[in-house]
Amino acid sequence: MYFKHTDEGDPLKTIVMTGGTSGLGEVAARQIARNPDTRLVLGARRGRPSTIETLPLDLTRLASVREFAQGVMQELGDRLINGLVLNAGIQFPNIDQRTEDGFETTFAVNHLAHYLLLQLLLPRLDQGALVVITTSDTHDPKANPMGPKELDPELLAYPQARSRPTGFSAGFRAYAASKLCDLLMARGLATSDEAKAKRFTVVAYNPGLTVGTSLFRAWPLWARFAMGTVGLIRPITRLATVDQAGQNLADLALGRITPPAGRLYASLVNRRLTWPEPSELARQDDAMNGLWCDSARMVGLSRPA
Ligand SMILES: NC(=O)c1ccc[n+]([C@@H]2O[C@H](COP(=O)([O-])OP(=O)(O)OC[C@H]3O[C@@H](n4cnc5c(N)ncnc54)[C@H](OP(=O)(O)O)[C@@H]3O)[C@@H](O)[C@H]2O)c1
Repeated sequence: MYFKHTDEGDPLKTIVMTGGTSGLGEVAARQIARNPDTRLVLGARRGRPSTIETLPLDLTRLASVREFAQGVMQELGDRLINGLVLNAGIQFPNIDQRTEDGFETTFAVNHLAHYLLLQLLLPRLDQGALVVITTSDTHDPKANPMGPKELDPELLAYPQARSRPTGFSAGFRAYAASKLCDLLMARGLATSDEAKAKRFTVVAYNPGLTVGTSLFRAWPLWARFAMGTVGLIRPITRLATVDQAGQNLADLALGRITPPAGRLYASLVNRRLTWPEPSELARQDDAMNGLWCDSARMVGLSRPA
């Protein structure tokens, strides 16, 4: 059941979301919050649209993820969650940043923290809940020459400077690999017993290159300049605008778009939502199961769902 009736005549669906304070997520959050029958709870590390209910969340700290999950459960009381949107993401021009838990920050924020949040909120997801995880087509070596051809979660979490590429290429590779992890996390959830029993719908959403968000804020000037140029020729390239990318995320999160049978990867191409196969590696069950177990160990969960 998609609606939770807690009071007579008060059908309300609850959506919990990360990454709703800027870029395409902010557009989606506003769209979702505008729905009169929807309660949106946002996890954010800084100021947010004042009309949206927000709890503190810093994905660079696993302790903050635990506090956020606790706070959500307290706020919701006996209400269940009908939608979970894991959209927050970052990109650095290197792999030099570490979180307070000691992980490489791109991997920690884009994947590990979201994995922990998913695990903590899983028992509170309602029958038929929707889970949307924002990934990227950069995960696929066919679309991105720097896309991952193999997966070693341990190396992503604790990169050793000498054995890895450095600088901008290292940062971009780490980002692409973290987005592969998001896809594998979506598949891991979709194939779990819990998801089957509770008939969850799971979507891994690729907005495609979307110029005009804050994702590239840490990039060097030359790279941001190049991105700005791409933005100028957007009408020719048919890249989606921030609004279009955000609208599609909102439509997925609100269940306005239903995935075709057997499909989970929603990819915005030429401004239209398509349902292709993800990369070869993203389809490998060994990679999916390995990541699931390694992630559980890294975040300190002994019995992941
Ligand atoms: N833009 C693209 O070309 C593109 C392409 C494919 C996929 N994506 C994916 O789309 C998603 C949204 O990206 P965007 O382009 O809209 O980027 P964005 O404007 O930078 O938005 C990123 C969101 O993540 C939040 N966030 C980042 N670090 C956080 C942290 N430590 N704790 C809590 N929240 C944090 C940001 O919060 P603040 O407001 O506090 O910074 C913001 O709300 C990401 O998952 C990204 O990987 C983007």
